[in-house]
Amino acid sequence: MDLMEYQAKELFAKHGVPVLPGNVAETADRARAIAEEIGTAVVVKAQVKTGGRGKAGGVKLAENPAEAQEKAEAILGMDIKGHTVHRVLVTEASDIAQEYYVSFLLDRANRTYLAMASVEGGVEIEQLAVERPEALAKIPVDPLAGVDAVKAAEIADAAGFTADVRDQVIEVLQKLWTTFTAEDATLVEVNPLVKTPDGKVLALDGKVSLDENASFRHADHAAFEDKAAADPLEARAKEKDLNYVKLDGEVGIIGNGAGLVMSTLDVVAYAGEEFGSVKPANFLDIGGGASAEVMANGLEIILSDEDVKSVFVNVFGGITACDAVANGIVHAFELLKERGDDVTKPLVVRLDGNNAEVGRDILDRAALPLLERVDTMDGAARRAAELAAAK
Ligand SMILES: Nc1ncnc2c1ncn2[C@@H]1O[C@H](COP(=O)(O)OP(=O)(O)O)[C@@H](O)[C@H]1O
Ligand SMILES: [Mg+2]
Repeated sequence: MDLMEYQAKELFAKHGVPVLPGNVAETADRARAIAEEIGTAVVVKAQVKTGGRGKAGGVKLAENPAEAQEKAEAILGMDIKGHTVHRVLVTEASDIAQEYYVSFLLDRANRTYLAMASVEGGVEIEQLAVERPEALAKIPVDPLAGVDAVKAAEIADAAGFTADVRDQVIEVLQKLWTTFTAEDATLVEVNPLVKTPDGKVLALDGKVSLDENASFRHADHAAFEDKAAADPLEARAKEKDLNYVKLDGEVGIIGNGAGLVMSTLDVVAYAGEEFGSVKPANFLDIGGGASAEVMANGLEIILSDEDVKSVFVNVFGGITACDAVANGIVHAFELLKERGDDVTKPLVVRLDGNNAEVGRDILDRAALPLLERVDTMDGAARRAAELAAAK
């Protein structure tokens, strides 16, 4: 989960990374009030999950509260690289003597953590990395050793921080590393980290990506979620603990196991070409257990998707055998009926693997309305695409 700047700065403040006071506003009036509280010149900053806000006109200086209101009015509603601005951060303005760059990230390619730092910050780091790679220090960080004062000094010196700010940067790097590990982040980035004319080092921008696999350890992170921006079906699926991703096709997909579901998407997209480019409507992995309740929850989400014209349930029985899954499907139909969510779209079911014959027999005897059984994956995908195209 990527955080907005104001959220990233909340985490920075919590772990002692120096940031300036500020507050977030959804209206220009509120922006004015915050500027009044701060009592100095402020910067009004668009809160969107993309960089380059400064260049796009989403970061503006305001000398007084009236100006803050004006600037907020101009920025709220603005479109920055396809992101609409619903919130602005109003924060103390700082004079800047120099802009730096520092970050910690998960370096997947090298299976380690990486520190990056540069005394040429402010610009987009991707650009700096391409144009002047020698100006960007990259130091691997051992996950067990972490970043102590010695390691932080190594990073600061590799980047060439001057003596006047070296101690402060070493301090900031350690606190940033604490933010990175304590919050289970995959990225913490400060661009720019600045030196003020009186020699203080401050984080003026912040970017944090949190590892959602660790969210069970961080009840407080749920508050960072932007519920308004999430797809409503995805949000409902998340509440029910389903691995669901909305796509833009017409064939609803349910499968057991992420790999199987991925290949189901491919097979449906391929089969759909014959029927005027019918495509999968979603990814949904109901996982190993495939209980009736999980199946019913999955079907409920998929059937409530207006774009879905047919559903393909693709199950390969393993430890949870096909008869258990078939019973799950039959029971899911009953559950849906009880909830008043009758199945109203054609369903194609492919059951194969452990106890396939028994499972198929259960489905046949149940004679569920709108349910067809096709025994091969390709055949079932083709039939589901055909049904979707016919609608
Ligand atoms: N509080 C602030 N005071 C003064 N200047 C700021 C402040 N925040 C940002 N800036 C200036 O605006 C530039 C862009 O802001 P930043 O937060 O880095 O947004 P982005 O990276 O999306 O462009 C910074 O490089 C800095 O020069
Ligand atoms: Mg920036």
